[in-house]
Amino acid sequence: MKKRVLSGIQPTGSPHIGNYLGALKSWARIQYDYDSIYCIVDLHAITAYQDPLELRNKIEELAGMLLAIGIDPAHSALVVQSSVPEHAELAWMLTCVTPVGWLERMTQYKAKSEAQESIGDGLLQYPVLMAADILLYQAAIVPVGEDQTQHLELARDIAQRFNSLYGETFVMPATHLPTVGARIMGLDDPEKKMSKSTSGAAHAISLLDPPNVIRKKIMRATTDSEPGVNFENPGAGVRNLLTIFQAFNEWSDDRMKDHFTGMRYGDLKKQVADAVVNALTPIQQRYHEIRQEAGYIERVLEEGAKRVGPLARATVHTAKKAMGLFTAD
Ligand code: TYM
Repeated sequence: MKKRVLSGIQPTGSPHIGNYLGALKSWARIQYDYDSIYCIVDLHAITAYQDPLELRNKIEELAGMLLAIGIDPAHSALVVQSSVPEHAELAWMLTCVTPVGWLERMTQYKAKSEAQESIGDGLLQYPVLMAADILLYQAAIVPVGEDQTQHLELARDIAQRFNSLYGETFVMPATHLPTVGARIMGLDDPEKKMSKSTSGAAHAISLLDPPNVIRKKIMRATTDSEPGVNFENPGAGVRNLLTIFQAFNEWSDDRMKDHFTGMRYGDLKKQVADAVVNALTPIQQRYHEIRQEAGYIERVLEEGAKRVGPLARATVHTAKKAMGLFTAD
């Protein structure tokens, strides 16, 4: 039997090249080697207020984008989290075995809660729901970007704690990071992770940005005052541009060094922009085709929920029995 892969992405903002290089590209690549489930995590999205109409649209747009980057519904289940109620049901059971202290230590929680006056409970529970997404399908492998590694450690801690309290129930999930591109930084500020929620004219490159916008953003990217590329000690901005190029074009470290050493930043930027435009153009074309096919995305999402439903119900049944909750048999 093939091992199971699971991952998720929030339907907020516009998916960007950080999401693509950190996670989505791996999703498409490994789907044929594993039994894959990819979730649009709308229940995670509502941990911050979302305009309802906009959220509903974003879910469909994101599904279209995942299909456009190559998620093949004949192989992978594409699922909207809220269409499988067992995600929330298992999350509650896991909440009850999770010490609050573990959640308060999460760096994403700390960063997000510091920026707000009143903190919704959902923000604290966020990684428990994420653990439920993973454990619900007994996933062995979780392809993510580097910013999710702490949440995955927590998912393992929760699984271990449940297993030791109630008997072996959950498979231990392993983190899968890409070798290049696990953490793409903002173009305007290479000390900060590229993020869907950070605004700013040249912070992120959306997967749907037209070529002229991509070029403009890259030409404006922050670099440093060196005359050209120096691999010994590149500044954060230059390192980020090199990483973006390398991740899109899949060049070896040696080839990168041979090609770019000493290159002036203007030329580097032009080549990075070409690499991004070349990679995104066919994705954008497929995206627009997919959006034009009436009813297609809804069908894929319905089919995905149908496929994973029995798996989700089986795990919840096992977990309920293990805990002594009421089940029919
Ligand atoms: P989200 O929606 O923030 O991001 C989706 C994926 O993109 C990766 N990513 C990045 N990778 C490299 N560089 C960046 N700048 C960058 N920004 C984002 C993320 O690491 C992620 O893999 N909590 C998750 C969603 C989630 C999930 C799950 C993931 C919910 N349940 C279960 C895995 C398994 C999140 O907010 O991802």
